[in-house]
Amino acid sequence: MTNGDDVILRFRDVHKSFGTQKVLDGLSFEVKRGRTLAIMGPSGTGKSVVLRHAIGLMQPDSGTVEVEGRDVAKLRGKELAELRRRMGYLFQEGALINWLSVGENVCLPLRENTNLPDAEIRKRAEEKLALVRVENAWDKMPSQISGGMKKRVGLARALITDPEIILYDEPNAGLDPEISASINELIRELKVRLGVTAIVVEHRVNCIKTVADEVLFLEKGRPLVQLPPKEFFASRHPRLVQFLGTDPD
Ligand SMILES: Nc1ncnc2c1ncn2[C@@H]1O[C@H](COP(=O)(O)OP(=O)(O)OP(=O)(O)O)[C@@H](O)[C@H]1O
Ligand SMILES: [Mg+2]
Repeated sequence: MTNGDDVILRFRDVHKSFGTQKVLDGLSFEVKRGRTLAIMGPSGTGKSVVLRHAIGLMQPDSGTVEVEGRDVAKLRGKELAELRRRMGYLFQEGALINWLSVGENVCLPLRENTNLPDAEIRKRAEEKLALVRVENAWDKMPSQISGGMKKRVGLARALITDPEIILYDEPNAGLDPEISASINELIRELKVRLGVTAIVVEHRVNCIKTVADEVLFLEKGRPLVQLPPKEFFASRHPRLVQFLGTDPD
């Protein structure tokens, strides 16, 4: 299955409710190997919920989420650990562990999922921190760094296992324009040079134009449209015109 056109990630008729609130209402989409799907949509529409399903942190009420043809909800133990090693997840809030230093936060996935020696783990973590342009922060605690730095440390942690599939939840949030551009370039490089498959939840037009092959606009638990970025941003769909017209970017 390496012909470059195979589906890596597939949502099939996924329904998810929290109490009486229906969030995903028969959501179906797929992402092919090496492609990047951007998900856009109003706040609270379920974008982060989609990513949590993709990595098995949440399970559908009905329908399936498949990674390389395997139902994520059915994976247990070793298989789930293997999936987590092959997938990186940049949490929307960074989700750094407060009582661990920046460096230890980045090391965590390797400590939990591999038997690599300490020195090797540290070396890899330092490389990833340099990649996201965080320097001299190894010993700092999360409370001592800025929001934008937390986001980038979260990204370094998501990249530490060299994942083949990466889920980015608002990678630009809290970053200044210069750093945003460098992070978008990094996301693009991972895709172009290493063939990473990705979902990017993001509102910033620059980011989407730099990294995405397609944009899925999610509303009321279903895709409203799924289009290549050029067509998406040129669309006259009244709902998109309304949504994009109010975007500060
Ligand atoms: N664990 C949970 N328990 C109950 N409700 C939840 C849970 N997770 C998400 N929700 C609800 O599901 C809806 C979708 O949440 P989600 O975080 O996916 O939105 P979002 O599209 O990512 O929004 P934003 O752009 O603000 O990040 C929200 O109404 C949220 O309150
Ligand atoms: Mg969200």
